[in-house]
Amino acid sequence: MSLPKNFLWGASTSAYQVEGAYNEDGKGLSVQDVKDPFPGTPNFNVCSDHYHHYKEDVALFAEMGLKAYRFSIAWTRILPTGSGEVNPKGVEFYSNLIDECLKYGIEPIVTMYHFDLPNELDKVGGWTNPKTMDAFVEFATILFKEYGTRVKYWLTINEQNMMILYGPIIGTTKPGQEHLLYQSNHYMLLAQAKVFKLCHDMIPDAKIGPAPNISVNYPHTSKPEDNLAVLYINAVRNWLYLDIAVWGKYNPIALDYMHKKGFKLDVSDEEMEILKAGKPDFIAFNYYSTATFEGPSADVKPNPEADQQIGLSDEAFYAGVKNEFLPFTDFGWQIDPLGFRTTMMEMYARYHLPLLITENGLGAYDRVEEDGSINDDYRIDYLKQHITELKHTVEAGVDVIGYCPWSAIDLISTHQGFEKRYGFIYVNRDNDDLKDLSRMKKKSFFWYKELIEENAESL
Ligand code: BG6
Repeated sequence: MSLPKNFLWGASTSAYQVEGAYNEDGKGLSVQDVKDPFPGTPNFNVCSDHYHHYKEDVALFAEMGLKAYRFSIAWTRILPTGSGEVNPKGVEFYSNLIDECLKYGIEPIVTMYHFDLPNELDKVGGWTNPKTMDAFVEFATILFKEYGTRVKYWLTINEQNMMILYGPIIGTTKPGQEHLLYQSNHYMLLAQAKVFKLCHDMIPDAKIGPAPNISVNYPHTSKPEDNLAVLYINAVRNWLYLDIAVWGKYNPIALDYMHKKGFKLDVSDEEMEILKAGKPDFIAFNYYSTATFEGPSADVKPNPEADQQIGLSDEAFYAGVKNEFLPFTDFGWQIDPLGFRTTMMEMYARYHLPLLITENGLGAYDRVEEDGSINDDYRIDYLKQHITELKHTVEAGVDVIGYCPWSAIDLISTHQGFEKRYGFIYVNRDNDDLKDLSRMKKKSFFWYKELIEENAESL
């Protein structure tokens, strides 16, 4: 079984986690720049300093053989206050980055918004305010105009579902706004639908898709209550977002959840028409792990061990539990390559759209040996297992157009600092000391290069 010759072998980053230069060249502040970092983790001011090292970094990506680089554009570099005045230096930076990729034949895959809402918009309510929706459309119009002839793959919003379910951890929602959560979600979905349409109108030969984090989940036992819990979590975590993105329809199970939880949702007929009119060309998605759930009961408490990025608990509906059949990463995330296959097959059977994997990877403590080598065999092993399942998925008839693991280069984790590394390229800094920020190729760099060269035929 072979993958298509034009398969987009890539790797990913996001602006606020990799760029640094948080206040340089006219950039405005985002919610990530002003939040209090988690204890023991650094702020996002310097990150991997990709802003100043982008030429060196893209040259390394080219050496690794990448066919695609998925990065995000910091909204506040283009529009420092979120809307209104455009910052020419910010426009120029991404223009240069895109050109640098194209110089090496690397396809730029651009995420428009990756967790870094402009702080000025946040001050007036963020996504609870429908004006943010207009600002996003304004931002998108600038991006399509500036880069539309060069960028053919666009992603609207990274992990909207995680921003809703994990907002306080990611730094995208504020305590006390829970009752407005699903109304904000609705505005984001509307903004996305408008931008799908705008993209097709302005750059008809480009493709655009959503980029949620999707994984199908398991019932802990065959107890009917556990199965019901999984029905709810799959709807609330996955299908709510994709049903609207693809079909323009609210998922009824998710609506029932919102209703029972007392979440306010004000939706007009006209808005439903907008949601229906915006269509994606593909589904981009991030996958790290599945999670396992049991039904709610008086004695079920949220399980901190399962309560990582993917494990969720909601006392009235589902409780995340540990899956005893799966191993854990250093940071407590369960590893489930077969779940990757199940997730893709289920998504494809539901929506019949091409799939693009925009994140998948292993966060680990990497060690530089005395000879300068970084022997991240655990990462190679993780990726190998997932790519093997990807091949099985394609063999089963699923249209997968590319694979962009997280991350192209080391960067700062959303809430677990710099020591949780994902990259193929090591960045010489740690949580407290910026050191020289020099780049070093990990063992996985050489492994991925070979894999791309042989189009994963050996797996
Ligand atoms: C995804 C995000 O949630 O997972 C990335 O899109 C993030 O921004 C990645 O970095 C890994 O999560 P974490 O918490 O380990 O950084």
